Amino acid sequence: MSSHPAGAPVDEAERAPDRPRVVLGVSGGIAAYKACELLRRFTESGHDVTVVPTSAALEFVGAPTWAALSGKPVAADVWSGVHEVPHVRLGQSADLVVVAPATADLMAKAAHGLADDLLTNTLLTARCPVVLAPAMHTEMWEHPATVANVATLRQRGTVVVEPAEGRLTGADTGKGRLPDPAEIFDLCVEVLARGALTPDLRGRRVVVSAGGTRERLDPVRFLGNRSSGRQGYALARAAAARGAEVTLVAANVTLPDPAGVKVERVETTAELRAAVLSAATGADAVVMAAAPADFRPTGESTVKIKKAADGSAPTIELEQNPDILAELAAARPARVVVGFAAETGDSTGSVLDLARAKLARKGCDLLVVNDVGGGAVFGAEDNEAVILGDDGSTSEVPRGSKTALAHVIWDRVAERLSRSS
Ligand code: CTP
Repeated sequence: MSSHPAGAPVDEAERAPDRPRVVLGVSGGIAAYKACELLRRFTESGHDVTVVPTSAALEFVGAPTWAALSGKPVAADVWSGVHEVPHVRLGQSADLVVVAPATADLMAKAAHGLADDLLTNTLLTARCPVVLAPAMHTEMWEHPATVANVATLRQRGTVVVEPAEGRLTGADTGKGRLPDPAEIFDLCVEVLARGALTPDLRGRRVVVSAGGTRERLDPVRFLGNRSSGRQGYALARAAAARGAEVTLVAANVTLPDPAGVKVERVETTAELRAAVLSAATGADAVVMAAAPADFRPTGESTVKIKKAADGSAPTIELEQNPDILAELAAARPARVVVGFAAETGDSTGSVLDLARAKLARKGCDLLVVNDVGGGAVFGAEDNEAVILGDDGSTSEVPRGSKTALAHVIWDRVAERLSRSS
């Protein structure tokens, strides 16, 4: 048993019964300092957080830091406050256990049911959703032992977030970075909101496009649109929370990468098409939440287009871009194809009439329809939609967060996948 002198026992009386109870486990890696940011987000948003570091984590960030940020005493071993039986009680009473960073060693112990300190005991007694956010060097992440442990944990329903790629400790780069703490936080909030974890997309591979494409006019100008990418990012994050392997093709989005999601960046509709078609091959579902520019200049000027001395404006000739959604629906590289339609009603029909016609024209399975009369939706936090099915079904999704809409979309996709598998 570890007996790191980490401080006083956790006091039951300090628990707030009405706040979601989170155990934040921290294992021994340099990314332990990033868990401070995660802890801050939890506490500032009203969660009741107990930090359980391993003794190795305390070599990186000391107990006083965790105690000050969480407002609670911190223990790493099972010998503090034994009368309260913390090695069992913490896991039993938690609504969520998240470990960030999770080292290869911690995951090996969790996969094999070892329990030699407070954190591993907590993992063994937890009956709530468990999220592990690994961080380690690429070699460790790719080692067959780690690969097998991650597979075991995922198979049991633990959410193991894919590490991000980038700079690691020292000079090397590769896969193994802890995802952005803000993204781990968002993922945890989603897992908490869904209550009992239903990783109904585990084993599924999905592709989501997001953002708005830009078509270059000259070295400084482009044709584009106002899509923020928020709905696509919410879809990617929600699918990852439900266990899917997610590729997000992002066109000119400035949001941070969602945790556990492979992000491919593109600029133009042609690049978006190539990336989506390639990622969609053999996928279970593809959701086209991006707003591709429908037209592009017939030629990109290699020099900046100058103002004419006589005040005349240049004429820019455009050609049509391919319709990626229609192509996906016709070629069917993925089993379920979902499109979006930003519609306004006009003299030829209502929003829903036009959307039904678009569903038939595009040939997709589901069409998520936003009424954009009045300029709603773009960049907004909330969304309101109707999901039309090619089987004639209509689901109205009341105004709510883009995350809530994302989950309803995945509910419909999961239904279709289970019908056809
Ligand atoms: N879409 C696409 N490729 C394009 C344009 C749009 O894949 N070149 C996809 C979008 O990602 C979205 C759906 O098609 O999922 C609907 O986009 P929308 O712009 O509403 O459709 P349009 O075909 O442009 O229809 P409209 O005639 O209303 O302009």
